[in-house]
Amino acid sequence: MSRLDPDCEMNHSPRVSNRVQQIQKSAIHEMTRLSKQVEDVAFLSWAKPTSDTPEHIKQAAVAAIEKGLVGGYSESSGLLALRREIAAKLKRDNSIDADPAQIIVTVGAIEGLAAALMAVIDPGDEVILPSPTYSTHIRQVVIASGKPVLVPTIEEQGFILDIDRVRQAITPKTKAVMYCSPSNPTGTVFSEEQLCQLADICIEHNLTAITDEAYEYFTYENNYHFSIASLPEMRKRTVSCYTFTKTYAMTGWRVGYLHADEELVPQISKAHIPFAICAPVVSQYAALAALQGPQDCVVRFREHYLSTRNLMCERLDRLSSVFDYHKPGGSYLMFPRILLDQGKDSTTFCKNLLREAKVSTTPGIAFGPTGQSHLRLSFCVSEQEINKAFDRMEAYFG
Ligand SMILES: Cc1ncc(COP(=O)(O)O)c(C=O)c1O
Repeated sequence: MSRLDPDCEMNHSPRVSNRVQQIQKSAIHEMTRLSKQVEDVAFLSWAKPTSDTPEHIKQAAVAAIEKGLVGGYSESSGLLALRREIAAKLKRDNSIDADPAQIIVTVGAIEGLAAALMAVIDPGDEVILPSPTYSTHIRQVVIASGKPVLVPTIEEQGFILDIDRVRQAITPKTKAVMYCSPSNPTGTVFSEEQLCQLADICIEHNLTAITDEAYEYFTYENNYHFSIASLPEMRKRTVSCYTFTKTYAMTGWRVGYLHADEELVPQISKAHIPFAICAPVVSQYAALAALQGPQDCVVRFREHYLSTRNLMCERLDRLSSVFDYHKPGGSYLMFPRILLDQGKDSTTFCKNLLREAKVSTTPGIAFGPTGQSHLRLSFCVSEQEINKAFDRMEAYFG
């Protein structure tokens, strides 16, 4: 092509890959941006703990800085001392027979999930995601040039897995199933029984399970967290991703980890290293202190979320002509259905709620097509914030 080629001269827009062009703007970030323009907003749209990181964790990071331990890279898979603690935690709390060689410390759960997808799927491969699901998972599949296949959950039964539909969605191109339990956005905790059925499907069709267990410690009443990799026949075909973000209120530290079979770990590392080299070393020392230190903060967070969940449900009961909901068994999120006609377009509904009632929520459509007519509410906030939001909604909906 000559330098004077008119096409060459005229096209001044930067080149953007198809992969990235397919990705729509994040509704969560969009709502955050719009919320900043509203004074004294009641904020229920972020899935981010509002508590600060516990003091002993912060102090461990300060000590590591003062000792000059954090200026360089760590091993790309993470500090050995940390991986040893993680292996012990996986055995104790997840019944996964883990070894430090099967662990990579990652930049939050998110980087672990992205690296796992890169290692497991090829362009055009299909990944089954029970829907509605965490929007980032859908984007991660697209960035890995895969095809997200959203399989609706059964809302009437509290957004549980629809095992028959998962089975029906499998094609020769299906390579993985990716889910979060407890779920963002619905708060559903997939039962051990259902996860065993899902495991049978993975085994039968040679699929990898990529799990996001970010909310593992936040389950309520008779719901309990079950790790699919604890099934011996699934241990080799699961990449389980975890994080310090939610458990220890360490959102900004960007540290998490994954567990996979030791044959797969070096392959996942090939994706982890060009994305991250290693997780931030200062955060790895903080994570070590989190695992070695007292665990009462986790109990406290859990108790707080249980009481804010109950409050949110009570307040929703008073708006029963506007919302229908399932009480979430876990996480700190819930996903009410909007009963009003204007709820059919969840984005407009949430924007109006923000502008006219000064309540910030997240439109359900952000979590896949089955999320339409819903909105996501976070109860990882103070009781005061919940009451403020619902007082306003009661006045708004009359
Ligand atoms: C299901 C789920 N996974 C992962 C994350 C983010 O985890 P991390 O901060 O460890 O990357 C979130 C945050 O909202 C989440 O809801």
